[in-house]
Formats: sequence, C-alpha cells, structure tokens
Amino acid sequence: MLLDTNLFCPICKRQLLINPTEVRCTTCQTSYPLLADCIPVLTPNPTETITRNYIEYTEYHRIQPAQQRANLLPTAYTHRPAAANTLSVAYAHNATLVEEIISSLLTHVTVASLTSFILHPPTRRTKYLFDSRYLYRDWSGLPESEAEIALIMRHLLPRLPATGPILFLGAGLGRIACEVAARREAVYAIDNSVAMGYLYNKAIAEPIEFYDINFKNIERAEQLAIRYSTNERLVNPIGKKNLTYIIGSAANLPFPDKYFAAIVSVYFTDVLPLSAYIGEISRTLADSAAFIHYGPLEYHFDNPSQMLALDELIDTFRLHRLELQEQDKVASTHCKSPVSGGYKLYTNWIMSFRKEVSDETLTADTVISIEQSILFSLSGQITNSSCQVSASIGSSQERNFEVNEALIEILKLLDGTTNFRGILQRISTTHGSIDNIFEAQLSSILVTLKQKGFLQFHNPGAAPSNRKIDHF
Ligand SMILES: C[S@@+](CC[C@H](N)C(=O)[O-])C[C@H]1O[C@@H](n2cnc3c(N)ncnc32)[C@H](O)[C@@H]1O
Repeated sequence: MLLDTNLFCPICKRQLLINPTEVRCTTCQTSYPLLADCIPVLTPNPTETITRNYIEYTEYHRIQPAQQRANLLPTAYTHRPAAANTLSVAYAHNATLVEEIISSLLTHVTVASLTSFILHPPTRRTKYLFDSRYLYRDWSGLPESEAEIALIMRHLLPRLPATGPILFLGAGLGRIACEVAARREAVYAIDNSVAMGYLYNKAIAEPIEFYDINFKNIERAEQLAIRYSTNERLVNPIGKKNLTYIIGSAANLPFPDKYFAAIVSVYFTDVLPLSAYIGEISRTLADSAAFIHYGPLEYHFDNPSQMLALDELIDTFRLHRLELQEQDKVASTHCKSPVSGGYKLYTNWIMSFRKEVSDETLTADTVISIEQSILFSLSGQITNSSCQVSASIGSSQERNFEVNEALIEILKLLDGTTNFRGILQRISTTHGSIDNIFEAQLSSILVTLKQKGFLQFHNPGAAPSNRKIDHF
C-alpha cells in the first residue's frame, strides 16, 4: 500500500521516501518497516523496536494465557465449570488477535536481531500489550463509550485550528484522531504500542470480534467474559483516509521542527513523565501553534517526583514557552464497562497552551520593523571606469556599521506592516527573481541587525512598532 502523506526520519527529521515496499531515509539510509503493510514504525532503531515487541508478544502469548488455561482453570475453577469454559473460550479467542500481531511483526524480525535479543533480553516492558477496554470504548458503539467520545469531541473540536497538521500523542485505538481527521486536513496519530497500531488498522478495515473479561463487580456469571464486535459503521471513510497512524514515541517525534499547527494529548499527558517529551512538543509545534490537553493526572509510572500537580504542570509548560490560554474541567467516566458495577470517574482538565513566538525567529510571516531610527550614510568615488560606494548604518547605540549599499534600499522597504515574504516579493518586483541563496543571506543579515538592536521582529500576534529611517 502506498502511503499518501509526508513522513519524516526519526533520526534526521528529513522527509522519507515512500514506495510500496519500504519507507526509507535517503539521507541516513535507514529503512523503516511498514507493519501490516501500512503502519510505519518510525523509531530510531526500528529493528530493535520490532524485535523487542516480537519477544514481548510471544512471551505474553505463550506464557500468560497458557498459565491462565493450564494452571488456573482445572484447579481453581472445578467448582465453576461454566466459568472455566467461558474463560477458556475467551482467552483462546483473544489469543488469536495476539497471534495476528505476532505474525505482522515476524515478517520484519531478522535472525541476527533475535539472536542479539536472546543474548541481551530487554529490560523495558511495553504497556498496553492488549487492552480490550479501548477496543470497546473506541469502536464498539456501546452507549457509554459513544457518550465519552462525544464529550471529548465537544471539548476538543472548538480548540483545534482550522488548518495545518495536527498530531495526537499516545493515540491508542485512534477513534478520536479519526473523528478529527474527518473534519481537518492532515492528522497524524502516534503510539508506541504495536497492538494499538495494529488493531486500529484492523478496526478501520473489518469488524473485530473480541472478549472483554470482568472478574469483579458483575451481576451475572455470563458477564464474566462478554463477546463484542467493533462496528464498521463508526469508521468515517474521510477520517481514515486523512489519518496517518505511526508507531513511534512521544519522546522522539519523527517530525521536523515547527511542523504542527496543534498537538493533542487525550488521556496521555500522565502516561509518561512530562520531562520525557515536553521538549519534543515544544520543538515540533509551529510558532503560535496549540498544545491541547484533555484528561486527568492519574500518572501511570512509578516515580513520584515526576507526578506534577496541575499548577506545576502549567509552570513546566511555561518554561518551554508554552503559555496557558484557557482552562476548563469536566467530569466523566473513562472506558466504562457496560456490565461492571465499578468504574472510574475522573475530573478531566482541558487546557490549551499557545507556543510563544521566539522573537529571534525570522520566518516568511515575520513582520520586521525598525527599532528606533537607523541613520545611514553613503559616500563614494566615481572615476571614468568605476564607481565605488561605501555605505554604513548606525543608531544612537551603534554607529558606522559597514553594509552593502543595496541594504539601505531594503531597509527602506521595512514599513512595520509587511512581512518578510512581502519584502522579498517587493525586491523581486524591482530587481527580478531572487534565489534561495539571496534569501538566506538577507535573512542572516536581518537577524544580525536584529541582534544588534536595529530591528524588531514581530511574529504573528505581536504588534509592530513605527518605522523611521533618517540620514546622519
Ligand atoms: C491511556 S491510553 C490513551 C489512549 C488514547 N489517547 C485515548 O484516549 O483513547 C495511553 C496511550 O499512550 C500510549 N503510549 C505509552 N507510552 C507512549 C510513548 N512513549 N509514546 C507514544 N505513546 C505511548 C499507550 O500505548 C496508550 O495507547
């Protein structure tokens, strides 16, 4: 399958070459596997990712359900033969889904990587190896689940920009990202769980039958294991076309700097310590772009020193130039089982942050104004065969800074309202087309003049100051 999207190398952050059989970086030559022929695994060491997951799922598949079947059932369930039967059917069925995940990984596992892993077994463990709660919350159409999805969408959609790429961190089974992709132009979902990526891809293609197993808080024995099916009618065809699902980590986003118009975290901010990925959010958000958080602070890791209170979380975002714009909260259940008498009710905080524009940055949208007055002088000498002109600029703080005479003409174009793109257009109207080298050189001169205090940059949102340019 040919992916119809932009993908980037997690190592170089350059655009990847996509063809039906591989996704490859033409800069560092790393080749990235496509899981189930369509989900790119974009981690810096994809072979390691695939092999580690293969080993984890194989272990999960062979040992855990086997123990449940072999050890638990015959002994502990002798007084509950019907329950034993229900459970063994449910486990065996769910195991077939895990087998599919293992087969999709096996295609990409090499003997060499497997040998190396057997010698050095992985110490890290992937969470969410198989989680039926998200299958029924996202794709089964149960009333409780649809109510939760509708509530999240009601709070999310008005906060999202109308245009530009949007990224969902820890996107799980992808329903929320898919709903947004039906209404926006380019949406990406990233999750480090192979099962989430695989099952998202399966759910948008065909119904998935699975069992949800509940040992506690059920009224009737038959509710011990309930068979559900995902519902094809919930899959929005536009959403699934516009959504690109990637296996990768929030802690190493495979995207270039300033790529996203918005990054969204639904029930994810508390999954990893914020310090592990906030730098990546800040790096990949465009100037003035939004970070949107929806969810509780339940914290799914062990280090208490990283379990920030809401105000500390907001302060940490501020340190990374992400300013809180507005804040709200809503109570809701999360992945509520239709049969269990026990469920969690969270206060979900909803926060929008805006990435502050760094005033050192000169982009096509930057409006450039003159800080106070720039004084300039032109002097020169004309002979029969030559004309030598020397130009300098200065201000009350900085005098006689030698420049190219053409720069004086360019400085006269800075009216405090036209952006850099407009300035370049005006130059090309007078002097003919300009190339990338000229643009890069001019950009670096303007940044230098800014650093010397002659100019001010106003990136979208900031008010420009008045223009003044005088002779000495
Ligand atoms: C609590 S679930 C939320 C899923 C989804 N956002 C939702 O609300 O339906 C957290 C998700 O984060 C994913 N995750 C955990 N660590 C991650 C990481 N380092 N990078 C990306 N995703 C990760 C998990 O696999 C899981 O799918």
